[in-house]
Amino acid sequence: MATLLLRLGAAAIALLVALPCLAEAYDPLDPNGNITIKWDIIQWTSDGYVAVVSIYNYQKYRHIQAPGWHLGWVWAKKEIIWTMTGGQATEQGDCSQFKGDIPHCCKRDPTTVDLLPGAPYNMQVANCCKGGVLTSWVQDPVSAVASFQISVGRSGTNNKTVKAPKNFTLKAPGPGYTCGVAENVKLPTKFISLDGRRTTQAHVTWSVTCTYSQFVAQRAPTCCVSLSSFYNETIINCPKCSCGCHNNITKPGSCVEGNSPYLVSVVNGPGKGSSIPLVQCSSHMCPIRVHWHVKFNYRDYWRVKITITNWNYRMNYSQWNLVVQHPNFDNITTIFSFNYKALNPFGVINDTAMLWGIKYYNDLLMVAGPDGNVQSELLFRKEPSTFTLGKGWAFPRRIYFNGESCVMPPPDSYPWLPNSSPRLKKTAFLILSIIVCAMLAFLHNHLVLDKYCGNKC
Ligand SMILES: *[C@@H]1O[C@H](CO)[C@@H](O)[C@H](O)[C@H]1NC(C)=O
Ligand SMILES: *[C@@H]1O[C@H](CO)[C@@H](O)[C@H](O)[C@H]1NC(C)=O
Ligand SMILES: *[C@@H]1O[C@H](CO)[C@@H](O)[C@H](O)[C@H]1NC(C)=O
Ligand SMILES: *[C@@H]1O[C@H](CO)[C@@H](O)[C@H](O)[C@H]1NC(C)=O
Ligand SMILES: *[C@@H]1O[C@H](CO)[C@@H](O)[C@H](O)[C@H]1NC(C)=O
Ligand SMILES: *[C@@H]1O[C@H](CO)[C@@H](O)[C@H](O)[C@H]1NC(C)=O
Ligand SMILES: *[C@@H]1O[C@H](CO)[C@@H](O)[C@H](O)[C@H]1NC(C)=O
Ligand SMILES: *[C@@H]1O[C@H](CO)[C@@H](O)[C@H](O)[C@H]1NC(C)=O
Repeated sequence: MATLLLRLGAAAIALLVALPCLAEAYDPLDPNGNITIKWDIIQWTSDGYVAVVSIYNYQKYRHIQAPGWHLGWVWAKKEIIWTMTGGQATEQGDCSQFKGDIPHCCKRDPTTVDLLPGAPYNMQVANCCKGGVLTSWVQDPVSAVASFQISVGRSGTNNKTVKAPKNFTLKAPGPGYTCGVAENVKLPTKFISLDGRRTTQAHVTWSVTCTYSQFVAQRAPTCCVSLSSFYNETIINCPKCSCGCHNNITKPGSCVEGNSPYLVSVVNGPGKGSSIPLVQCSSHMCPIRVHWHVKFNYRDYWRVKITITNWNYRMNYSQWNLVVQHPNFDNITTIFSFNYKALNPFGVINDTAMLWGIKYYNDLLMVAGPDGNVQSELLFRKEPSTFTLGKGWAFPRRIYFNGESCVMPPPDSYPWLPNSSPRLKKTAFLILSIIVCAMLAFLHNHLVLDKYCGNKC
């Protein structure tokens, strides 16, 4: 009976956890998250215009990490790019028909990238030159913006003749983003001068919105969750094959043994510097593992320890972040050594938190190895009506690392509370024992009486 109840509870949690996976097209925890591209024409020229192109990462917790964004489009007419500052086109294309001044890019469908940090001073503009890296909006809104300046020719020279580029594509650097059409913004962007004493405005502003979907990205999971608790010594590992399967026969070289004497040569071997993870061999094969340990149960509080471990030998995760959903975040009291912000995707329910590292302390999650982890402890105030250690309640409902959903163990495998179901069993056993004893006593009495009085009683 008790087991049945436990199973039902587990099934309910399983359903709750599974539901979001059915509709991953938009992110329920960041429903308005998007990347907006603003194309501001700030000056007309003899054959075209000069524009400031800005990329705003309005996503709460998804960022763009190295090697950075790639922004592409298709020109509506026969435009060319004369010059670019703060960014560059990856290919020049065929400019053979030009004499004298050679354009920066003649392709019909240019792809542009950011410049690297430390670009020559005369190639820089505000918000440029970050190697295409954009932080998430919550972590650092200032570093969530990228800009470059572009001088366009053969485009028309007034707001009636220019046409917005089409088919914008944003790669980060892989797939995942889908961009809408460029729209003419009625209120043009205003630019404030450095001293804040003068405002100028764009002649024309176009705006494009791009949204992310894990489904479009078609990426295998990159993160998994393991669980443990003080009340049960079992450690629930990440589900087997969460991010891939370890098979050194069909897929040799897909991972490295942590104790391999050749570790250094493998890590520095072919593929060095690529963004494809080289993970330590494990049953889950994930580059990132998040461990949730229920550590203490005090009278009014309870305590959790979170450990994020990097299993990837090829990546230092800079500016990493974690999104965790648990009903007790409405009563979070203290978070040690991580930054914290409450996310309220549904306005009223305060059950989702964003955690990230403290600058210069643990905002860099180092490559796999002895330093490849970061830790924090969370202290929750108990709400007596909801708090329980039973039915896996103390474990998180969902975890995202860098905006990617982490694979959770199946809820019916969560560490059991030793005295939740057994206590009921004990009660049942006690009642059964009483009944049996009573019966025995009854029989005994009869037998004893029988013995003494035989058939006379
Ligand atoms: C994109 O995000 C911004 C900032 O959160 C928001 O104002 C805007 O409405 C969003 N755009 C779309 C199309 O969702
Ligand atoms: C072009 O500019 C003129 C004058 O600034 C303005 O009246 C008109 O609405 C603009 N047209 C478009 C399509 O933006
Ligand atoms: C723009 O995208 C649409 C739809 O994806 C496609 O049909 C069209 O061919 C693209 N245009 C160009 C010029 O690439
Ligand atoms: C394959 O992996 C198993 C288990 O990890 C190990 O015992 C075995 O030695 C490996 N074989 C080779 C050829 O590396
Ligand atoms: C990770 O960071 C450390 C220290 O900043 C650096 O020495 C190492 O080369 C980096 N590794 C990778 C793979 O980027
Ligand atoms: C959510 O919790 C945070 C931190 O306790 C608090 O600052 C915020 O006001 C709460 N929001 C709501 C809607 O309860
Ligand atoms: C926990 O949070 C809820 C909602 O914010 C509040 O009503 C309740 O009083 C809090 N409980 C404790 C024990 O602080
Ligand atoms: C700990 O939890 C596991 C389920 O994950 C269960 O099989 C085991 O019996 C529990 N241990 C105790 C001592 O209750």
